[in-house]
Amino acid sequence: MSQQHRDLIERDRKVTFHASTHLRDFAHGDAPGRVITGGKGIHIVDKDGREFIDGFAGLYCVNIGYGRTEVAEAIYQQALELSYYHTYVGHSNEPQIALSEKIIELAGPGMSKVYYGLGGSDANETQLKIVRYYNNVLGRPQKKKIISRQRGYHGSGLATGSLTGLKAFHDQFDLPLAGILHTEAPYYYHRAAEQEGMSEREFSQFCAQKLEEMILAEGPDTVAAFIGEPVLGTGGIVPPPEGYWEAIQAVLAKYDVLLIADEVVCGFGRIGADFGSHYYGIKPDLITVAKGLTSAYQPLSGVIVGDRVWSVLEQGTGQYGPIGHGWTYSGHALGCAAALANLAIIEREGLTQNAAETGAYLQERMQAAFGDHPIVGNVRGVGMLAALEFAVDPAKRAHFDAAHKVGPRIAAAALDENLIARAMPQGDILGFAPPLVATRAEVDEIVARAERAVNKVTDELVREGVVKASMSVG
Ligand SMILES: Cc1ncc(COP(=O)(O)O)c(C=O)c1O
Repeated sequence: MSQQHRDLIERDRKVTFHASTHLRDFAHGDAPGRVITGGKGIHIVDKDGREFIDGFAGLYCVNIGYGRTEVAEAIYQQALELSYYHTYVGHSNEPQIALSEKIIELAGPGMSKVYYGLGGSDANETQLKIVRYYNNVLGRPQKKKIISRQRGYHGSGLATGSLTGLKAFHDQFDLPLAGILHTEAPYYYHRAAEQEGMSEREFSQFCAQKLEEMILAEGPDTVAAFIGEPVLGTGGIVPPPEGYWEAIQAVLAKYDVLLIADEVVCGFGRIGADFGSHYYGIKPDLITVAKGLTSAYQPLSGVIVGDRVWSVLEQGTGQYGPIGHGWTYSGHALGCAAALANLAIIEREGLTQNAAETGAYLQERMQAAFGDHPIVGNVRGVGMLAALEFAVDPAKRAHFDAAHKVGPRIAAAALDENLIARAMPQGDILGFAPPLVATRAEVDEIVARAERAVNKVTDELVREGVVKASMSVG
């Protein structure tokens, strides 16, 4: 690493509080840093000019790839005209109007209006407020509880971190808040011994039954909404088992529970459809979007409100006056301009279709490379989302002892191969979510580098006696 790069990192260590970072180790020089200076297509470059394949599109958000000058140009032109004016009390800007029209068109029938925020967490915060308001207006003040899922990810604020069903986001923060519950994760590979013999469909029914039991135990008149990602994301990149959404929606309809689809990862093409909801036949009342909406060229999120909820919100303001909800930067003109340019690229270049086709190729290549690998228990994914789950004994679905840090070690080995793949936060899982512009040749390169990384760590684990010598791949 160059002196210049090292100096920058030293300055950073002194003054920046980094997200999801070991604070002490980073501040004291015991954890690595890196300064990213540029990107093009699926590649990013650091201060030393070292180039990486970004196999995770930032945090599964840079759908159109890096360095798209068309988006930079759109932001610049909008900034020359009007960078910002608030959108309170009916004020608007032209990109916001065009963007709302586009989002409603993409979301499809039954969707009515878009409210804008800056990131997925604040958008889900808005969802929770909408759900409360909705039931208050309907005269059901007791109907307020929210059911999320174990391993769901919906943000890291107080309320949204409570929705998230991952231990690290709760411990030491006194979360989850009261009134936010977590039901069974649709994680067929992790099913308990009692569910061992179940088919995927039976496991989906089991998940729906657990949800129904929870609603009945809490009292249906106290349960307001269910929130879920079409494909579990940060919780492990887990496509739902067959029949899952159908079974869940039947339960929600039975007890008049609203459905919030958190499309922050799946929205705008990632799994080969405009929305994950379209792919899985989900009919949500409310949709959360962020990430792929702008491909992260500007921070922007949205809450798409369906007709059923919208009519109650209107009724509420008729009764109580203007809604007491708003952010200074709601509908920010630069964010909306970036989103329009981004969505135009996705449409013009057929990136959603590419996510379906090249995504299918990615799944095929992953299966071919890792389906029979001695330390890979599960290869899964859909579209441009894929994961490898490591197991000490794949036949028994037996996890590694967490102390071996197998996931992070493999992610580090991938980095040595100049490939960024993400060690997911809970379990030994390596996640992939390349930009949707990735070609077949680039997929081949991602898989080849991942294979070298996994094999290298496998051989280390053999030498350390963690796995049997017969598992050596060297
Ligand atoms: C499904 C989902 N919802 C919400 C969020 C939170 O978004 P943000 O980090 O922009 O607040 C994320 C972030 O990864 C996400 O994956």
